[in-house]
Amino acid sequence: MRAWLWVFAVALVGSFAQSLGAEQRAHTERISGSAGDVLEDNPVGRLKVYVYELPSKYNKKLLQKDPRCLNHMFAAEIFMHRFLLSSPVRTLNPEEADWFYTPIYTTCDLTPTGLPLPFKSPRMTRSAIQLISSKWPYWNRTEGADHFFVVPHDFGACFHYQEEKAIDRGILSLLRHATLVQTFGQRNHVCLKEGSITIPPYAPPQKMQAHLIPQDTPRSIFVYFRGLFYDVNNDPEGGYYARGARAAVWENFKDNPLFDISTDHPTTYYEDMQRAVFCLCPLGWAPWSPRLVEAVVFGCIPVIIADDIVLPFADAIPWEEIGVFVAEEDVPDLDTILTSISPEVILRKQRLLANPSMKRAMLFPQPAQSGDAFHQILNGLARKLPHHKSVYLKTSEKVLNWTAGPVGDLKPW
Ligand SMILES: *[C@@H]1O[C@H](CO)[C@@H](O)[C@H](O)[C@H]1NC(C)=O
Ligand SMILES: *[C@@H]1O[C@H](CO)[C@@H](O)[C@H](O)[C@H]1NC(C)=O
Repeated sequence: MRAWLWVFAVALVGSFAQSLGAEQRAHTERISGSAGDVLEDNPVGRLKVYVYELPSKYNKKLLQKDPRCLNHMFAAEIFMHRFLLSSPVRTLNPEEADWFYTPIYTTCDLTPTGLPLPFKSPRMTRSAIQLISSKWPYWNRTEGADHFFVVPHDFGACFHYQEEKAIDRGILSLLRHATLVQTFGQRNHVCLKEGSITIPPYAPPQKMQAHLIPQDTPRSIFVYFRGLFYDVNNDPEGGYYARGARAAVWENFKDNPLFDISTDHPTTYYEDMQRAVFCLCPLGWAPWSPRLVEAVVFGCIPVIIADDIVLPFADAIPWEEIGVFVAEEDVPDLDTILTSISPEVILRKQRLLANPSMKRAMLFPQPAQSGDAFHQILNGLARKLPHHKSVYLKTSEKVLNWTAGPVGDLKPW
């Protein structure tokens, strides 16, 4: 019953696609309204960034010790550093800087199996701030309000991968005034500070490029997902991991022929996403995952299952229009929700996803390209200028508490 409905939908989408193909080729579609324009903003000339020079123990040495840090989903912190060093927005004169950047690699501490741990990050961050605030006068002027930090771990500057513990810690107190550039985004959450810039996780651009298949390949998979449904090691009783949403996907749809879902990661993973209409992007430990990036890059409509998620560059990317949002509690109705989306709506989302500016904004390529995620971060920082006069503190006015937090975090790095 469901299967024939779906076949019908595919046929419809196919014929729509054919009739619209010519029109689509005639002009590259831009996102309507201001969204598309914002994505194409050029940050050069709109802000100047000063990059602090730190001893290599805060950055390069860590990478030398474990080069795998370049390949995991938090690698944006390293590539952002490299990007800024040669970016035209960089200034060598701190007196003219709008923003100050402290290059610390907070997630480059990997377990033998490659899992990045954030437990040393508070100590490293505090130590770096101590250093810049004693060596240069700029931190003390605002206690960091014109400084930004890239903190890409699961819960950003809360520096823990389990939500409850991250919430207990809260955002490292020394970062209270700074702008945080982070993958984590969830509304009304202690780990998301107002004014933070939410970015996509790092996904390897060359590798994705190498797996592209012809654009006109039919999308014969209705719903696609690869990944964990349960995390038995870290959540033995179940229900905590993904707040039970992934488990609900498995329990309800493991035998549904419309759902191509499994824990196996096939070598054709990227190709399969290009053959799918919908790609599930449920929360895991954190609300976000690299699937968001992969879905956009591979033109698969992201089905976002993560209540209150704040998506990357949400002020520039029309996520509501390209994706489908399903409340965590509605997962049992996922089949009905997705099969009742009309072919016209599917086609419109696919056409928006085909817009190259959308894909570019999701990636951190080397070398950088205009409109990529690096540029979107700079655009986000530029939109926050000028800094409000109130961020400049009076002499001797101090707000931040340098001794808050566990004693172990207070040691120099
Ligand atoms: C900034 O303030 C800290 C703490 O009050 C102080 O130790 C440091 O010397 C100040 N930095 C500069 C450059 O004056
Ligand atoms: C700073 O934090 C420490 C540890 O939580 C606390 O003992 C101290 O009273 C705080 N200082 C101020 C000025 O709030």
